Amino acid sequence: MKIDKRDWLFIGIVVGVLAIFIAISGKEKTAHVPNNAMHKVSYDAAFRNAPGPNASLYTRAFYKPDKKAAEVFCEPCHKEKGVPYPPNHPAKNRCMFCHKFSK
Ligand code: HEC
Ligand code: HEC
Repeated sequence: MKIDKRDWLFIGIVVGVLAIFIAISGKEKTAHVPNNAMHKVSYDAAFRNAPGPNASLYTRAFYKPDKKAAEVFCEPCHKEKGVPYPPNHPAKNRCMFCHKFSK
């Protein structure tokens, strides 16, 4: 197969898109919600309906933890324990858009 100018242009675009994709995914460094005793209430709330090991593949593939249930606890507890937010911390609703669960 001969690769002409047009093909190179196409290859260039594909490589460019991939590079941007990789660059963006590498930037996701927002602190994860620690998986510790302190955060157990949130994990328990989110995963209370988690499918068991015998659930069908279908059920497990489409399972999403209940983030809204987990978020109910974040702000009140952080306030009570005096956990500091960094200076420029964004609006504090929907914590879990940004702070993911640790595995
Ligand atoms: C019962 C209290 C409690 C609840 C509920 C809670 N946190 Fe925390 N969180 C803490 C405390 C205390 C710390 C300080 C560090 C530690 O002890 O883990 C902390 C630390 C953190 C940190 C910083 C971790 C780091 O690496 O420095 C993040 C991010 C965080 N919490 C997010 C959340 C989010 C998001 C939720 C809700 C889904 C949540 N927390 C719910 C008490 C809580
Ligand atoms: C729009 C995105 C966004 C939302 C929503 C958000 N945060 Fe953050 N949070 C950040 C970023 C960005 C940082 C600073 C970078 C970092 O340290 O992870 C941060 C930092 C923190 C830290 C300090 C982490 C550390 O390691 O020192 C805590 C604690 C925290 N957030 C808790 C919360 C809680 C609790 C909520 C919900 C009430 C919340 N955040 C909602 C983006 C967000």
